[in-house]
Amino acid sequence: MTFDVVIRRAYVVDGTGNDPFVADIGVKADRIVSIGDLGTTQAAQVVEAEGRYLSPGFIDVHTHDDSCAIRQPEMLPKITQGITTVIVGNCGISASPVKLVGDVPDPMNLLGESDAFFQTFDAFAEAVEMAVPTVNVAALIGHTTLRAGAMTGFDRSASDEEILVMRQALRTALRGGAIGLSSGLAYTNARQATSREVKALVEVVGEEGGIYTTHMRNERDLLFEAMDEAFETARHGHVPLVISHLKCADVDNWGKSGHALEKLELAVRGQPCNCDCYPYSACSTTLDLWRVSDQFDILVTWSKPYPEQGRRLLSEIAAEWEVDLTEAARRLMPAGAIYHNMDEADVRRVLAHPLTMIGSDGLPSDPNPHPRLWGSFPRVIGHYCRDEALFDLPEAIRKMTSMSAARFGLTDRGVIREGAFADLTLFDFDRICDEASFVEPTKPAVGIDWVMVNGQPTWMEGTVLNRAGRLLRREGTIE
Ligand code: ZN
Ligand code: CU
Repeated sequence: MTFDVVIRRAYVVDGTGNDPFVADIGVKADRIVSIGDLGTTQAAQVVEAEGRYLSPGFIDVHTHDDSCAIRQPEMLPKITQGITTVIVGNCGISASPVKLVGDVPDPMNLLGESDAFFQTFDAFAEAVEMAVPTVNVAALIGHTTLRAGAMTGFDRSASDEEILVMRQALRTALRGGAIGLSSGLAYTNARQATSREVKALVEVVGEEGGIYTTHMRNERDLLFEAMDEAFETARHGHVPLVISHLKCADVDNWGKSGHALEKLELAVRGQPCNCDCYPYSACSTTLDLWRVSDQFDILVTWSKPYPEQGRRLLSEIAAEWEVDLTEAARRLMPAGAIYHNMDEADVRRVLAHPLTMIGSDGLPSDPNPHPRLWGSFPRVIGHYCRDEALFDLPEAIRKMTSMSAARFGLTDRGVIREGAFADLTLFDFDRICDEASFVEPTKPAVGIDWVMVNGQPTWMEGTVLNRAGRLLRREGTIE
């Protein structure tokens, strides 16, 4: 047999949690066709792994790359980390299906201005396919986006007629290949939605075979109640659940992660559920008054009325303006911020849990982004696995590949086996390191040496070689 590409003598971490083994990998067209000792078989291209690790390409299960995939199809923040698939449309905000004019409601503005949105999922899917990003894209439909399409204001729950409009829009998108529904119930523009409203949508997700992900109503004092709501909502629709960025926010709630994970373990006995997590103890989103606190640092990343205040602490700005934090925030809005509101011990406990997948939650439109955008995946391997021994390498990789592919119904991805898609990442375990920091947030990671997407060599030595990413439409029911 001849191959298009052979990767020779790699330490293969196959994504399933198995121990690494040395093998050659043969790729033909877009698939892995042979694993083993391929001797001197012919190949159009040979990559010598030389002691480096080869894993399935990483799957970033929590992104806001909807617009980035279309407008910056090289997707450098992702491909430089060895990511080969992104799930877009998280936290209730997706780029379709909605037509917007004028100001974009919070937090949909994290995706861009009104021209970043598409009236139908088909139009969005076509735009992604035309752009041909470096990585594959699978898309959730956002609850807040559906609200924006069906309602004139957000300060109430949707009426029965509006729920019908949302259900229809959601169903059409799911039939077009969207993989499920996301919600962002903590946000001001979704908070008034009752459980009943969300359940009416999750019913449709269940009927069409999709998944439900949720940025829960509360990640602080009412964390456990919010988890119960998420479990109940998913059960109502008979859909798998992913709790987005499970965390214990704000000082008073530090230490709750143990019990939160116990609740997740209990729930998983009766229904499919997981969570995702990014490897940092600071979160980032829009600036909102209810999030303001003097108990931790808040770094303003952007501000529409005061763009020059980006990369400054809210406390500094407030002092300079001689106002309190809330008043300063009010003047800066609409704005974005990084909140240092988590405890490292909670972050580790969640990250290490076997039900946790890795998702960056990076914000590519932010001019001063949280470093998770460029650093999450190498940080999990370099910092948390190699340096801190929070988990072993096969487990770190499983959290970024096979678990994620199975949970989101990405067929033949997230594993190295014959017949699977050739989405592959070759990395140097000794060197791998996230370089992005809160000071230099867009510094690319090091140690990701070579990346293949759908059988096409895509990234090598700091250069994009090809763009071969696809829009991944849902195939069948996600179990
Ligand atoms: Zn979120
Ligand atoms: Cu998010």
